[in-house]
Amino acid sequence: MAKAAKSSKSKKTVRNLETVIIEKEDGIAWCIFNRPEKRNAMSPQLHLDMNQALDELAIDPEVNVVIITGAGKAFSAGQDIRLYFRGTTEDPAKRHKAKHASHAWRWTKLASFPKPTIAMVNGYCFGGAFTQVSACDFAIAADDAVFGLSEINWGILPGGIVSWNVVEMMTMRDAMYYACTGETFTGKQASAMRFITKSVPKAKLRAETVKLAKLLQQKSPAALRYTKEGVRAVRYMSVDQAADYLNAKSDALKYVDKERSREKGMKQFLDDKTYRPGLGHFDRSKDL
Ligand code: ACO
Repeated sequence: MAKAAKSSKSKKTVRNLETVIIEKEDGIAWCIFNRPEKRNAMSPQLHLDMNQALDELAIDPEVNVVIITGAGKAFSAGQDIRLYFRGTTEDPAKRHKAKHASHAWRWTKLASFPKPTIAMVNGYCFGGAFTQVSACDFAIAADDAVFGLSEINWGILPGGIVSWNVVEMMTMRDAMYYACTGETFTGKQASAMRFITKSVPKAKLRAETVKLAKLLQQKSPAALRYTKEGVRAVRYMSVDQAADYLNAKSDALKYVDKERSREKGMKQFLDDKTYRPGLGHFDRSKDL
């Protein structure tokens, strides 16, 4: 089994923004929505804080993986109906700013984040919060987490890009049913309908999430970044476009990967005979 990257070891640090806590330890950054008394409903301030957090973490050399989760019993109860909706109704400038900030971190930044991202869904996840779950590369939920497209229950539609997110992730049948009924579903059901990567018992949620983060840290960061970019990009390409894009991307990876992972992997398999690529990862900490 390969070791984690040498550079990922760090002491735990905690930084508090107004509505988000950023904890960093062992190469993993935890972005924790911190409005537990409001079930982590997303206020305009939370959107600004998340933009700031992701901008910092994207270029933080101590951070290899980002995990997004919520304090208390909710992941996020969606947009803050008081502060995000009612609070901006009469003020177009405020509304524009909140909307822009909301879309920027939940989709634009997260879906193209240069490092792997995991949504750890610890509890309630409603409406607008589906977008950041979809944007993260992986999502692990507690079996008993409660998901809901509750928009219909208070007279709106799953806006922003939530409707797009759910038809992209779920079957049309499931997306239509849950969008039109507002019925909730559990983490276990979310996993069965492939909206998330998997669900686990709540007592194991953190450990399972950290396990995945540690596994990801064994991989070449450049190969991982290009892999996730490639998987997303080819989705809507023709086969010929995809083949051309992936050839170019593979060539570019050789140039950007300063760790020379490809050469290390080949050497450790073919010459040193120290690992089997089919069964695990090469040792990143070893020099060529
Ligand atoms: N917007 C604003 N305030 C909220 C939201 C929200 N989305 N969710 C919870 N809160 C507030 C409540 O108003 C309450 O505030 P108060 O203490 O000042 O009265 C506090 O958070 C706690 O909420 P409770 O309802 O008391 O908590 P409970 O644990 O019983 O229920 C639940 C949690 C199920 C999440 C419930 O609060 C709820 O249904 N929230 C709304 C979910 C929703 O529909 N979100 C909007 C989706 S639409 C969109 O995102 C575009």
